Amino acid sequence: MAKLTEIGWNEFTSLSLEAKRPYLARQDGMPYHTLFAQQFDRSLLERLCALANRIRFINKSKEGALYLKSVLAHKRAMLYFSQPSSRTFLSHLAACQLLGITTGSVRDAATSSEFKGESKEDSIRTFSSYFDMIIMRSPEQGLAEKMAWELSNSSRPVPILNAGSGKDQHPTQALLDVYTLMRSFENNGGVDGRTVVFCGDLLRGRTVRSLSYLLTEFSGVRQLFVAPDELQVPPDVTAILDRKGVAYEISGDLRACVARADAVYMTRIQDEWDSSKGASAKIDTHRFKFGAEELAILKPEGVIMHPLPRRDEIATCCDRDPRAMYWRQMRNGMWIRAALIASTFGFEESIMNCGY
Ligand code: NCD
Repeated sequence: MAKLTEIGWNEFTSLSLEAKRPYLARQDGMPYHTLFAQQFDRSLLERLCALANRIRFINKSKEGALYLKSVLAHKRAMLYFSQPSSRTFLSHLAACQLLGITTGSVRDAATSSEFKGESKEDSIRTFSSYFDMIIMRSPEQGLAEKMAWELSNSSRPVPILNAGSGKDQHPTQALLDVYTLMRSFENNGGVDGRTVVFCGDLLRGRTVRSLSYLLTEFSGVRQLFVAPDELQVPPDVTAILDRKGVAYEISGDLRACVARADAVYMTRIQDEWDSSKGASAKIDTHRFKFGAEELAILKPEGVIMHPLPRRDEIATCCDRDPRAMYWRQMRNGMWIRAALIASTFGFEESIMNCGY
């Protein structure tokens, strides 16, 4: 198994994401560091979803919940979030609590020594002195990867989980999105062959890039990208689809795409990335919202998803419709993150085979 200690930083960064995968994996194939969606293939996705289902089931009884709380009671995790977060922070925290992990957190770099001029590398090494895993979100693309390499080459390596890096990747969100799709379609044919519509800010939404990639692991999934021209899916995403021979379409017509959709994945306009204040507000986005009329067109077994937070891109009148999956999607995040964390520490097999 390739090790991150055996490759220099410059050589490592020049590899393709797929080629980086073995450097980040454990012996059992599960990720040690989780940095991007390209680390997961179909079999890993199925293993993780099976484990998430297992944890969910075990947790239903008090005895089972107490067993789960003992699994990682000897571990501590640091949640290092230097970008706003509600769900990703809380679901990782709740996942740690399910497994008995003690946690610490920094949610604002202004409260850490970074404010005094400490480098991010030194901050991360500080966290690794006290914790056994670092779950991190940062506005900086590639930072999680750099920190993973730094830690693996330090005297106290600990795994890094990327909980969102810049406009780039959000691998654990993609895991919960796939888990939600797998559960939504488990009794009617599965995810293969489905049509998934992505709508909103596809240019700057990191959840779209990560999920689009994971969907290529399913056969015959067609991806329809619906957005204003200014916010359409970037070429690095379509290049992967071209290379993998995945069918996709680029469109400006949400209703026409909803009529064909098995899943509609709405996203908000990511205006925090605007180069000049108010730039996004000048883009006409009114045709890229899901409301009562779109609901009327969606297939009876179709699902509506959203990584959240939402603004007005899904009308609240859709919230009680059984096809509105975004609430369950959010809770699924806790289970799949618990599965990923347990696997990162090597506890997949013992949880799968425990007596509960
Ligand atoms: C997303 C993110 O942070 O990229 N939120 C999340 O993690 N659930 C999407 C967003 O902020 O729009």
